[in-house]
Amino acid sequence: MSTPNEDREVVWVMGASTGLGRSLALTLAGRGRTVVASARSGDKLDRLAREADGLPGAIHAWPLDVTDSDAVARSAAEIEDQLGRVAVAVLNAGTHSPDTAADLRSDRLRSIMELNFFGVVNGLEAVLPRMIEHGGGRVAIVASLAGYRGLPSAAAYGASKAALINMAESLRPDLARYGVTLQVANPGFVRTPLTDRNEFAMPFLMDVEDAAQAFTKGLESDRFEIVFPRRFAYLMKLLRVLPYGAFFSVTRRLLPGNGDGRPPST
Ligand SMILES: NC(=O)c1ccc[n+]([C@@H]2O[C@H](COP(=O)([O-])OP(=O)(O)OC[C@H]3O[C@@H](n4cnc5c(N)ncnc54)[C@H](OP(=O)(O)O)[C@@H]3O)[C@@H](O)[C@H]2O)c1
Repeated sequence: MSTPNEDREVVWVMGASTGLGRSLALTLAGRGRTVVASARSGDKLDRLAREADGLPGAIHAWPLDVTDSDAVARSAAEIEDQLGRVAVAVLNAGTHSPDTAADLRSDRLRSIMELNFFGVVNGLEAVLPRMIEHGGGRVAIVASLAGYRGLPSAAAYGASKAALINMAESLRPDLARYGVTLQVANPGFVRTPLTDRNEFAMPFLMDVEDAAQAFTKGLESDRFEIVFPRRFAYLMKLLRVLPYGAFFSVTRRLLPGNGDGRPPST
């Protein structure tokens, strides 16, 4: 049984009310795509949808809490019925709150994992069966360069992003058999409401519009990993292969109050 919208395709961006997701939604609408923009803040999404008036594509506001798996599943079905097949899903909703060894709290770690990791899992569960049945689709999971290795003050955030990268590595070859492309976006520092909270100097800080352009280019490729800014990514890749002795001598210096560095929390 075909749906009335089976010939129409949408890009579903989660975490689209501010920051990277918002800018990505506008960039994609600028390129003629029909974008479904989700986040909890309906008012911001409505403003975003109006901002897309006059662009070649369109943005539809779709308020949603990604930690509510039933609501995400319901939304996937309703979007398909009302707007078109989800050809691309960008699972971008996430947050960061710094943590220290002296104040490690299970409730805080659980809530970060609930949003950053299980929010993405909820999105995958909702869109993958439809893409597999259709025989094609693309999903981009937004992790972070901070997921490469454990960085000071980012125990919860880094663990959530490392889990995403690992999960995506596991799923990519399996999904490829069904024609579904799974990608991971690992941004460095991008100027958004999330990083506006950081009080330390952020190396290679990127404007959100440039980040959205780089992200869009990555979505047009079949590369597994989409990284930006590139120069910071190369440094982080170097950090990733350092043996533990050398690695900890670098990260020790990034602890708050140690040396001139402050902890990265991309
Ligand atoms: N900025 C960076 O430097 C950087 C670097 C690496 C990775 N990242 C990742 O990029 C992604 C976007 O970050 P950003 O910097 O653009 O931050 P942001 O401006 O704070 O955007 C986060 C988005 O997630 C949404 N969100 C939060 N909780 C949600 C929930 N329960 N359900 C649905 N949506 C929710 C927020 O909207 P509502 O509050 O309206 O729900 C907002 O739209 C995150 O996954 C972040 O970890 C960012």
